[in-house]
Amino acid sequence: MKLLTVIGARPQFIKAATVSRALAEHFPGAREILVHTGQHYDANMSDVFFDELEIPRPDHHLGIGGGSHGQNTGRMLEKLDALMAAEQPDWILVYGDTDSTLAGALAAAKLHIPVAHVEAGLRSFNRRMPEEINRILTDHVADMLFVPTQVARTNLRNEGIGDAKIHMAGDVMYDAALHYRTRARQPQWFSQLGAGAFALCTIHRAENTDDPDRMRGILAGLAQSRLPVVLPLHPRTRKQLAQHGLELPDTVRVVDPVGYLEMVWLESHCDLVVTDSGGVQKEAYFHGKPCVTLRDETEWVELVEVGANVLAGADPAQIRSAMERAGSLGDTPKGLYGQGDSAMNILSRLAGVTPTA
Ligand code: UD1
Ligand code: UDP
Repeated sequence: MKLLTVIGARPQFIKAATVSRALAEHFPGAREILVHTGQHYDANMSDVFFDELEIPRPDHHLGIGGGSHGQNTGRMLEKLDALMAAEQPDWILVYGDTDSTLAGALAAAKLHIPVAHVEAGLRSFNRRMPEEINRILTDHVADMLFVPTQVARTNLRNEGIGDAKIHMAGDVMYDAALHYRTRARQPQWFSQLGAGAFALCTIHRAENTDDPDRMRGILAGLAQSRLPVVLPLHPRTRKQLAQHGLELPDTVRVVDPVGYLEMVWLESHCDLVVTDSGGVQKEAYFHGKPCVTLRDETEWVELVEVGANVLAGADPAQIRSAMERAGSLGDTPKGLYGQGDSAMNILSRLAGVTPTA
């Protein structure tokens, strides 16, 4: 089996790490060609993950990042088209919902190369999100759709995608959480913060960062936090705060984006997670921490249903009250995202082998 994997953004490095490792360990006859589009390019948004998670160096780096969605997707499409035509892999493997995901899926579909989509079927039902467009289009050109949950399967069925293409795989991020948990590392700067109990916060979603009113609301909510808020700041958010002349409140301790091993340490030692990230909402649950989500809707609806996650939008009063109410997750059901064998499920399917129990 020859796979060509297209990745480019932070969460994709983490997702692909588990699959690449399982491939190298359990499928000795298989070959993976790794393509990094360059969508994320700062060392702390890209290199750190390859180093820490022992992801093989990309075979190809396209160096495309920093442009608009259309520019990035178009430039990736052109380069991927040539690369895929030359490599002729058995499968193109794409993850999640970024511009790199869509470019990889579209380039392959036009060349009639089969596309496998990991984390298929997620929907926010908000078409103003660039991610929602990327997901829908990717799912509709994909040949094999690996869903993490039953809700995702139902979403695909509702859009007319046939059952034969849909495979329940569990969530690769749960595989990663289990595998790297023991290697979690306290950030060097943590002891200097003087924060005992703390809330861990991430903000990067365009619907928040690009809307000064929403960002003002979020900052006003965080300003009322009783806990110090540790915020590893995404470069998009840093730029947008400066652009709109917004200042962070005193309750917030800003740090640079951290590597995954430090993030896992922060997630497992905090009292509360406050985020608009998709991946971080799930990781809060994996590490048994309550989560307040700074969005009006979420793709991960099961977390809200079981009480692990509260949607607070960008309204200061709602954020404050959700942060105050968030308690322990003692009774939350386990296993919402599979058994931690998602990478093996995916690879066994792609290789045409029945997964072992
Ligand atoms: C992208 C994904 C989003 C995902 C997020 C993960 C799309 C449409 N969005 O959002 O789904 O949740 O990645 O973090 O693909 N920048 C830097 N350095 C970097 C990376 C980004 O400075 O290493 C800045 C640049 O100004 C860039 C901006 O952030 O233009 C936005 O980056 P982009 O990759 O387009 O979108 P994200 O907001 O990171
Ligand atoms: N993450 C990280 N360092 C950070 C912030 C996030 O390693 O400073 C990890 C986080 O643990 C999760 C992934 O990045 O595994 C989530 O990515 P992000 O929030 O950028 O994107 P999303 O999941 O919303 O697409």
